[in-house]
Amino acid sequence: MAGLIPQGFIDDLLGRTDIVEVVGARLKLKKTGKNYSALCPFHNEKSPSFSVSPDKQFYYCFGCGAGGNALSFVMDFERLDFPEAVEDLAKQAGVEVQREERSDRRQSSTPRKDSPLYALLEQAAAYYRQQLRQHPKKQRAVSYLKQRGLTGHIAKTYDIGLAPPGWNNVIAHLSRDSSEEKALIEAGLVVENEDSGKRYDRFRDRIMFPIRDSRGRVIGFGGRVLGDDKPKYLNSPETPVFHKGQELYGLYEAKQQNRQLDDILVVEGYMDVIALAQHGVTNAVATLGTATSEDHLKRLFRLVHSVTFCFDGDKAGKQAAWRALNSALPVLEDGRHVRFLFLPDGQDPDSMVREEGQLAFQQRINEQAQPLTEYLLSYLSKEANPSSLEGKAHLAALALPLINKVPGSLLRRLLRQSLAQITGMDLDKVTSEERNPAPSPAAETTPPQEQHDAPPHWDDDWQPAMDDYQPSYEPSAPAPAPRKPGRKEKKGVDSPLLQATRTLLHHPHLAGLAQQANELAGEDEDEARLLVALLDAAQKNQGLSTIELLARWHGTALGEQLSRLAEQEWLLNNPSDNLEQQFFDTINRLSAEQTERHIDKLLAKSANEPLSIEEKQQLRDLYRRQRAPKTDR
Ligand code: GTP
Ligand code: MN
Repeated sequence: MAGLIPQGFIDDLLGRTDIVEVVGARLKLKKTGKNYSALCPFHNEKSPSFSVSPDKQFYYCFGCGAGGNALSFVMDFERLDFPEAVEDLAKQAGVEVQREERSDRRQSSTPRKDSPLYALLEQAAAYYRQQLRQHPKKQRAVSYLKQRGLTGHIAKTYDIGLAPPGWNNVIAHLSRDSSEEKALIEAGLVVENEDSGKRYDRFRDRIMFPIRDSRGRVIGFGGRVLGDDKPKYLNSPETPVFHKGQELYGLYEAKQQNRQLDDILVVEGYMDVIALAQHGVTNAVATLGTATSEDHLKRLFRLVHSVTFCFDGDKAGKQAAWRALNSALPVLEDGRHVRFLFLPDGQDPDSMVREEGQLAFQQRINEQAQPLTEYLLSYLSKEANPSSLEGKAHLAALALPLINKVPGSLLRRLLRQSLAQITGMDLDKVTSEERNPAPSPAAETTPPQEQHDAPPHWDDDWQPAMDDYQPSYEPSAPAPAPRKPGRKEKKGVDSPLLQATRTLLHHPHLAGLAQQANELAGEDEDEARLLVALLDAAQKNQGLSTIELLARWHGTALGEQLSRLAEQEWLLNNPSDNLEQQFFDTINRLSAEQTERHIDKLLAKSANEPLSIEEKQQLRDLYRRQRAPKTDR
């Protein structure tokens, strides 16, 4: 990544941009009073619940809760990431995107936007493509592809090429001198022998699959042997532009082939992606021989609401699915769907779609893919057979920590309900009783899969604080229940600072009643900083609604933290006295700590040198503040 885009530039850009224009260029808007309305592009609907406010410069959908500013709209509508969306708006506004100078030179592996490697890799792709058409020995490759059922058309869509036999083709065609050879090495196309220093082409006598990033730039290659030699596949090594664990093969091509992507199919192999596309299933992507990571899933859920994993029905496939499930849990916001389809023994998506064709394959997905919720419980039920009482307790103990990872509160509830149904247990009681008899059953039992390659959840800490999910924020709760004093906080979710931040986020008007944020500046604890930043913004922009506050930070790390805190229920709940009081108590505590630190600093200084008149006055004010009654409602 090049340097960060300064917030000032983004504010400026948003200032120059009219959200009505931005949305209007993409949707049919109807003026309704002060605002505009449209059919929401982010969910299916028949009557418009999507609204754009020219005054507030934000949009909001009352149907699905999507909302934000012009930037977030461009990101979500065009499926761009944050810097890309900024580029897009900047282009419209006719300005050049500013970037901060990168301060750390350490990460030489993060490419500048204009890394010369991109051009080199593109040239290599063109070279391989041309070799598939022109090389004297092209026929073997062409026959191989044909025999695998591929047409020239699909070869073109995926830009398939041929690395001809020989050690020196790429070197000879793409470099003129040693420094250009070095660039080829950096791009992963040429290998240098450590001992002899000899350089040679990495990919030889292989079918070449260019791997593109989501913007379509070639970042690496996969190369397949034409026969049964080993290794079957060779991938580009990690380079400044290629990070295997983050990329998904076929994602760019899937976007190209579909105006509207609703569901993405995740398969295991290059050839699976291509064979599926050959048969009209154009929404498949593959990880590059790695397990599906949380990063992969985050990326996919930026594009679609539904992800279906399609794995072989064998043991390896089951294991891959379980890993994918564990990666998916932390990104399962409400409204996101993950399903698992297992193919019959001996089939992979390539052979399956060739055998049964597009319609049957798609029907198979629709009818047989298991929702994650169902798969999770059925998988664990095989491990902890819930036909006995002990089995039920065991199942609950295995499932609850996993369910706890799900951020979507509705989904989490659904999972708890299913679990309660299977076990016939009152889960709240189960967990509070089992809290003390320390080691959880999960920690003691053998994992369902091989010990040496256990699913990730076995490493996780047992999280006993189940009843934390009961109190304040379940949507059905009529009013947030008061917090029990002295109870252990569930880390990262309900600390007083985060609770106060959430209260403020839901009820921004409280900012006007609180202490000035700048008096609290200088906090160094992360959570305190978050609260102070929000307080500051809410005070400087009085009258902003929750959604507008969120929109200000959409796409930033802060925004992510805030939206996680916000959840959906803010639309429903009214402030309760209790939460307001908690908010003020927290602000007062921060303020008191700040005052104390400031006093200490001045006192320490006075021990060495006389204080100036201003400093003495400051000290008096601080003492006065320490004694003064606290801000209250
Ligand atoms: P075909 O045999 O051509 O049908 O390949 P496939 O794409 O179906 O691959 P397969 O299901 O055998 O493997 C899935 C994925 O694992 C491949 O697409 C590669 O990304 C990776 N993979 C498989 N074999 C190798 C290998 O020998 N080396 C490396 N680095 N990766 C491999
Ligand atoms: Mn295969």
